[in-house]
Amino acid sequence: MSTHGQFSSRIGFILAAAGSAIGLGNIWGFPTQAATHGGAAFLIIYLLLVFALAYPMLVAEIIVGRYGQGDPIKSIRALLPKNKFVGTLLGTGGLLTASGILSFYAILAGWLVAYFFAPVFNMLGMENVAVWLQEFGIARNIIFMILFMLLTILVVKSGVSDGIERWSVRLMPLLLILFVVLIAYILIQDGASEGLKMYLIPDWSHITPSLMVSAMGQAFFSLSLGSCSIMVYGSYLRKDANIPKTGAQVALLDTGVAFMAGLLILPAMFVAQKNGVQIYDDAGALISSGSLVFDVLPEMFKTMGVMGSFVAIIFFFLMIIAALTSSISMLEIPVSTAIHQYNHEREKSSWVIGLLITVFSAVIICNFDTLFGLVITITTQYGQPLLSMSYALILGWIWSRKSLLEEIKQGYPDVDRSIFWKIWPWYLRVVCPVLMLMVFVSSL
Ligand code: TRP
Repeated sequence: MSTHGQFSSRIGFILAAAGSAIGLGNIWGFPTQAATHGGAAFLIIYLLLVFALAYPMLVAEIIVGRYGQGDPIKSIRALLPKNKFVGTLLGTGGLLTASGILSFYAILAGWLVAYFFAPVFNMLGMENVAVWLQEFGIARNIIFMILFMLLTILVVKSGVSDGIERWSVRLMPLLLILFVVLIAYILIQDGASEGLKMYLIPDWSHITPSLMVSAMGQAFFSLSLGSCSIMVYGSYLRKDANIPKTGAQVALLDTGVAFMAGLLILPAMFVAQKNGVQIYDDAGALISSGSLVFDVLPEMFKTMGVMGSFVAIIFFFLMIIAALTSSISMLEIPVSTAIHQYNHEREKSSWVIGLLITVFSAVIICNFDTLFGLVITITTQYGQPLLSMSYALILGWIWSRKSLLEEIKQGYPDVDRSIFWKIWPWYLRVVCPVLMLMVFVSSL
């Protein structure tokens, strides 16, 4: 297939998929959710759900993509050639979900860009600009959302280029090292042990249906499931790659980063509280959970003195890269569909679709209190799990077991003798749908 690219190595796929998976979901979403839902209780349920629900779905989505070798609509149609409508429906659902996710993701990522510039202006002695950059405001939110969307469009427009791939290979390990250093720093501060306790010692009374739904949504979000990012990347995966193993590596990397982010942010919250920042209100509820991470981190950098500004700049720069490798995997979904299904040019599609999403994002900013949470809930707590479940049902019930085995066998010849093959197909058919149903029903 001439127009269809391929990752040159297995590591290329792992890094691209991990680049998609690791992003704001890990560093903003996960710690915020953990802090809202009692810390350790959330962590434990989250780990269980990643292992029991998200990983099997990740494998399913990679298989759909690698078998279908195309954009989401084409890939899903390949599984159900007689029923084209299902492919159109699910593929379109996926690209709309991806676009919806990008529209709120760009707002958050815009904050990162603003927080990256704030210490620069501080060092230049322009404190009032720095304050403006760190304050919630419509103008700031719109300007930096647009900046981030432009970055995303520019990358997608030139094809998911060697550039960004090579960059992220070098920069992501740096982010991890910086994490370790910051965790070591925060843990020796006054107050940190309270956060550590909350994060690691479970209080079971926090396990409620609403925690389960949030943890499920968070797991699907963090692994980029459901909205076809992984499917499209899977279509670039070489046929001799071992899908179950590759998927496990991506899931482990992603979960490791989320765990580390929690280890940094929760103690940092309590250190900030010791320093006079209000984190919980009188009733014990988290204050403005959306901006929690953005309030806590600068507090931490402030305690580092002169060094703090440099650390902040490096930290937010690396975070912007992490967010960018995720956002491009979202914009790539509608763009690749426009290219392959409707024969549009990549450059034009990237601009048109990117600008449409930018406009929608601006609408969210102008109606922040009503729309921001709503779009997040619809796309991540309902859209992603339901779409992902549909792929699992198609693979588990409709597609032939033989084709499924053949597809996996190409990169894992003796899979039929492995424990994976003994468990996973049944799991996909029965356990995943039932688990999901239970979580949904209990939330009603
Ligand atoms: N997983 C990414 C994160 O944690 C976000 C992301 C990228 C995503 N592509 C996606 C989420 C597709 C849902 C669907 O930040």
